[in-house]
Amino acid sequence: MLAMNYRGPRRVRIDHKPYPEIKHPEDAIVRVTRSCICGSDLHLYNGNVPDTRVGMTFGHEFIGVVEVIGSEVEKVKVGDNVLVPFNVACGKCVFCQQGLFGNCHESNTQASAVGGIFGYSHTAGGYDGGQAEYVRVPYANVGPTVIPEGMDPDDAVLLTDVVPTGYQAAEMGGIQPGDTVVVFGAGPVGIMAARCAWLFGAGRVIVLDEVEYRLEFARNYAPCEAYNFKEMDDPVVFIKKITDWMGADVCIDAVGAEASGSALQTITGRKLLLQAGSATALHWAINSVKKGGIVSVVGVYGPTDNLVPIGNVVNKGITIRANQTSVKRLLPRLIEHVQNGVLNPKALITHRVPLEDIADAYYMFSNKLDNCIKTVLIPPSAKG
Ligand SMILES: NC(=O)c1ccc[n+]([C@@H]2O[C@H](COP(=O)([O-])OP(=O)(O)OC[C@H]3O[C@@H](n4cnc5c(N)ncnc54)[C@H](O)[C@@H]3O)[C@@H](O)[C@H]2O)c1
Ligand SMILES: [Zn+2]
Ligand SMILES: [Zn+2]
Repeated sequence: MLAMNYRGPRRVRIDHKPYPEIKHPEDAIVRVTRSCICGSDLHLYNGNVPDTRVGMTFGHEFIGVVEVIGSEVEKVKVGDNVLVPFNVACGKCVFCQQGLFGNCHESNTQASAVGGIFGYSHTAGGYDGGQAEYVRVPYANVGPTVIPEGMDPDDAVLLTDVVPTGYQAAEMGGIQPGDTVVVFGAGPVGIMAARCAWLFGAGRVIVLDEVEYRLEFARNYAPCEAYNFKEMDDPVVFIKKITDWMGADVCIDAVGAEASGSALQTITGRKLLLQAGSATALHWAINSVKKGGIVSVVGVYGPTDNLVPIGNVVNKGITIRANQTSVKRLLPRLIEHVQNGVLNPKALITHRVPLEDIADAYYMFSNKLDNCIKTVLIPPSAKG
């Protein structure tokens, strides 16, 4: 089968790989009909995530058709059209039982760090992902969810990550009616977080990025105020100034380890890898939230060693909430929101690319070319 193959930083290609096989009675094999590239894949692509092994297939956002099931799979059957949450989760451990599917204790040998994730580094279990024609889906009684009749596949594929992550970012912000919410990052996740902030009762939503076409997209889609931080002397002062010098009630970091905007952070976090990614957006979030406010972090960082202004967190009495998204927990509500037209995920899709052209697709998304917001990859297996 065709599958994406990671060859080292900024080198990916399409290759032939063996078909995945059932390894456990609860496995299923899914024939992929659509997959996407996430901002999280860019951290892998750029070589910023430890233990990303050459030969891995990335891809944690995918939908497809169940082709084979193990002897203990009961919740899905052969022929079902399913969307597969990006978390690999057992459904039984103490964390899964609380709905914390992103923190599953069984699906990753490095259990105390993070739950399993499809197509991520071996720090997240080392599972091959869905930027391929076929994928092995472990714990098939837990993750895969039958796509409701009539749902557009483009909406379904975005329900595997972007929609729940944007939603959870807003949810973790504990937004109160009328709150001012600032979202750092106008990638697909930040745009969705800004959209969802309204659902929790925000009174004002502000997005910061440095890429003009993304700011324009956010302005129309969320809708929101959107500003280019490159045009500011200091983004923190800017936020304070437009919030009566109080700061925002809630700040959301939807950027993560590859933030730009600070030479020190970029050199230590992205070039020399002396810390686990550049913490620029996190700094700005902590420093521009009001005293007693909440900082919600969905941007992904490496495991240890970030230069974080913890003194300001203490002095301002800030609550920081952060997590990998628990997709499965949020799906029932979000499927309803899509069906009722409250959320329109597929509008984020700007590009459709054959899986065979994956190297070009990564290059375009990573370098923010051609007004790219979200790319859907169509594998030959989509034709059945
Ligand atoms: N927690 C989770 O479960 C989860 C799920 C999906 C994605 N993520 C993470 O969310 C983040 C965003 O994902 P995405 O797909 O939107 O990625 P993306 O790379 O498309 O978007 C990131 C955006 O941040 C902007 N940016 C860079 N530096 C900035 C700064 N200092 N301030 C404001 N904006 C800045 C970039 O220009 C870009 O538009 C990534 O870190 C990704 O790994 C987390
Ligand atoms: Zn993702
Ligand atoms: Zn579990």
